[in-house]
Amino acid sequence: MTDAATGAPPVPRTRSCPFLPPDGLADIRAAAPVTRATFPSGDEAWLLTGYEQVRAMLRHPGFSVLVPRALNTKDGVVAERPGRGSLLWQDPPEHTGDRRLLAKEFTVRRMQQLRPNIQRIVDDHLDAMEAKGGPIDLVQALAVPVPSMVISDLFGVPVDRRPEFQDIAEAMMRVDQDAEATHAAGLRLGGLLYQLVQERRAAPGDDLISALITMDDPEGGQLDDMFLMNAAGTLLIAAHDTTACMIGMGAALLLDRPDQLALLRQDPSLIGNAVEELLRYLTIGQYGAERVATEDVELGGVTIRKGEQVIAHVLAADFDPAFVPDPERFDITRRPSPHLAFGFGAHQCIGQQLARIELQIVFETLFRRFPTLQLAVPTDQLRFRDDMVFYGVHELPVTW
Ligand code: HEM
Repeated sequence: MTDAATGAPPVPRTRSCPFLPPDGLADIRAAAPVTRATFPSGDEAWLLTGYEQVRAMLRHPGFSVLVPRALNTKDGVVAERPGRGSLLWQDPPEHTGDRRLLAKEFTVRRMQQLRPNIQRIVDDHLDAMEAKGGPIDLVQALAVPVPSMVISDLFGVPVDRRPEFQDIAEAMMRVDQDAEATHAAGLRLGGLLYQLVQERRAAPGDDLISALITMDDPEGGQLDDMFLMNAAGTLLIAAHDTTACMIGMGAALLLDRPDQLALLRQDPSLIGNAVEELLRYLTIGQYGAERVATEDVELGGVTIRKGEQVIAHVLAADFDPAFVPDPERFDITRRPSPHLAFGFGAHQCIGQQLARIELQIVFETLFRRFPTLQLAVPTDQLRFRDDMVFYGVHELPVTW
């Protein structure tokens, strides 16, 4: 199939199996891991589907995140960029300095310290689920609230304001609302984060915001309110929907594969491996990472010219047989692979250790406490997030 206006075929978006990448991507990768494609915005750009080529691009200094067009949207219009502290929308050298500041707080040690609290949050939600009884929607009961409670902990949101914080965080992520409602939620979030920053300035605690407040800005003085709000807002957006989608979709996949779930139940020490295979197999950033070339770059035998846009299709790359043998086999006993679910290069996910800890605790505890957990509807009745940046399930009715 070819797009009449541009000549390049459209990027595949339709999945015949909800747990596998869109149909046709494997053929594209086999024929040409770096090729031209037409994107939902109507623009033609480079599509990278090979594991090696995706990694080479994501670590190459000749690409910027400041793309002129948003290829995966219908209108192609790029949203306003928040500025310093927002990482996802910053290039080096500004990105390098700001990321270094935030990375100081994302140490493995600090993340491990969160473990007991994460376990308590998960236990509380599972207690509530048990008390209510099935069938229940696991997305609303577990997948959505747990990540927002964890972020509240990380930010030091006072206990009495957590319901409001959670409410706003969820309103930001909703898709069944118009742009005005999302904008309104954004304003409420800005207000809440501003208040939080002022409170932490007045009475510092043992949380991430308080730690950032005491840091020196390499550009002089201390980090200002704008930086702190941009950093907190980006962290919230980057952490919440992603982790929620992985919990919902991960549970759906495990329940759909009783043989793999049985292996995990027999040997809970497989949880680390299982989470890595879930991350690879689902690679929920389903549209890939967008970049624009800032110089001419030779990649996979083609020249990408300065100013041309590129999509690093991490999902296609994680199913490259040159990267993992038999990629369509979901196998939690695989040796953990350097998958691209958290991206690669300068912008690789800063919260990946936290995400791993959350997912390990959630799946280990869920399947231990609910040994008879099963889907309450057939898999083909589930609604999947085909048209959203992060793939997942809208609802996951379960019973036990
Ligand atoms: C399973 C859950 C998660 C997934 C799949 C995920 C995925 C990703 C990916 C693919 C990127 C790279 C984007 C790009 O290259 O354009 C990224 C960046 C980022 N993630 Fe995550 N993420 C997850 C959880 C989290 C959590 C829990 C946090 C924070 C607490 C977080 C914070 C960030 C931030 C701040 C960035 C931007 C880093 C930068 O630009 O330097 N993420 N994430």
